[in-house]
Amino acid sequence: MFKIAVLISGGGSNLQSIIDTVSTSKVEYEISCVIADRECYGIERAKQNNIVTKIFDRKVLKKDISKKIDGYLGDHVDLVVLAGFLSILDEEFINNRKGRIINIHPSLLPKFGGPGMFGMRIHRAVIDAKESESGCTVHYVDAGIDTGEIIEQINVKVDPKDTAEILQKKVLVEEHKLLPKAIEQVLYNLK
Ligand code: GRF
Repeated sequence: MFKIAVLISGGGSNLQSIIDTVSTSKVEYEISCVIADRECYGIERAKQNNIVTKIFDRKVLKKDISKKIDGYLGDHVDLVVLAGFLSILDEEFINNRKGRIINIHPSLLPKFGGPGMFGMRIHRAVIDAKESESGCTVHYVDAGIDTGEIIEQINVKVDPKDTAEILQKKVLVEEHKLLPKAIEQVLYNLK
């Protein structure tokens, strides 16, 4: 059975989508731990589901956070899933786990990605640019920010009357479908 680690910084609704679908996945896997870089509600979700949790405080560890997480994970997991994880992992961490780290991003990459593009900023930028569609992307993580190979995307129609808040909600619904599907696909390819 494959093992995954899920890295989070926030509410953990994407983590919840994995928890809710893991038992029906066509590729057998388990969430062996949830790691956060701060106290957050996602950690509570993991605990409620008896998943091992660990917090590596980004404010305390600063640049050492990648090394600490790397040491903690060792060879115990097949895939690292970044699900709303806001710390930047260093190149060594990423290169050591090439093809085995994925990230979910709430836009149609390569549009609206890169440094500073996170959270509501993304949706505001999409609305300001008067885009007719947005969406979400799961991609492999490489040394750049939001630049890794795209695994899968879902498009979301932007209505002219949509606010950034409405768009965020619409995209999040699709993220919850996309992430479990992409995990399954990536693990299938690791077989
Ligand atoms: C999601 O929009 C994800 O794409 C982004 O951060 C948000 C995290 O939401 N990277 P949640 O913590 O999973 O609810």
